Amino acid sequence: MRGSFFALLLVPAGLLTAQGLKPIALPAPETSGGKPLMQALKERKSTREFNSEKLPPQVLSNLLWAAWGINRPDGRRTAPSASNRQEIDVYAVTAGGAYLYDARANVLKPVAGGDLRKATGSQGFVAGAPLNLVYVADFARMGGGDETNKIAMSHADTGFIAQNVYLFCASEGLAVVVRATVSRAELSKDLGLRPEQHITLAQTVGYGRK
Ligand SMILES: Cc1cc2nc3c(=O)[nH]c(=O)nc-3n(C[C@H](O)[C@H](O)[C@H](O)COP(=O)(O)O)c2cc1C
Repeated sequence: MRGSFFALLLVPAGLLTAQGLKPIALPAPETSGGKPLMQALKERKSTREFNSEKLPPQVLSNLLWAAWGINRPDGRRTAPSASNRQEIDVYAVTAGGAYLYDARANVLKPVAGGDLRKATGSQGFVAGAPLNLVYVADFARMGGGDETNKIAMSHADTGFIAQNVYLFCASEGLAVVVRATVSRAELSKDLGLRPEQHITLAQTVGYGRK
């Protein structure tokens, strides 16, 4: 009893608000099909106009797998990472709450309740698009070494994931833009991030305006 009281005190404020949200089990990703790579590259672009239509669970699962899923039995991913540290976490911020993508379990784990989409960026379209991905580097997974190196490596690693998302969206006809304009301090608090966790970039995904 006493232990659980102290454990509760240690939970960051953002995490408490996730109570009531259930984990979302994603359908198995479809890892074949899509447009040929050269066509997806031809069609890759940033778009800043979105409608509010939600992504179906299968599309969300495919998108997250393309972004940062596990593509080999040894647990390596669809994007490279420096020294295979795999320090980037992908958060999915939707109207229904904020979730952490657990690639191994293929589950979205609740992180914070409520609609935090507006907190993911200052640009107008951010709050209305169905999905904002937030990339978070956990420096605690990056070993020793200096901070400057960790910043450089984690931003490079994020870029590969973001490009996977761009190519998936080009293949699926989805609208997407990667963003450095993230309200880092506010969002870190809302997501209950530890001091060693740093938001690198965000990426808005949805259907474009017709
Ligand atoms: C690291 C990085 C940060 C970016 N940040 C933003 C941003 O905050 N807001 C935005 O609307 N676009 C942002 N972009 C998208 C660029 O503006 C876009 O890629 C560029 O204009 C070229 O357009 P294209 O992606 O259609 O080729 C960013 C792109 C990169 C690579």
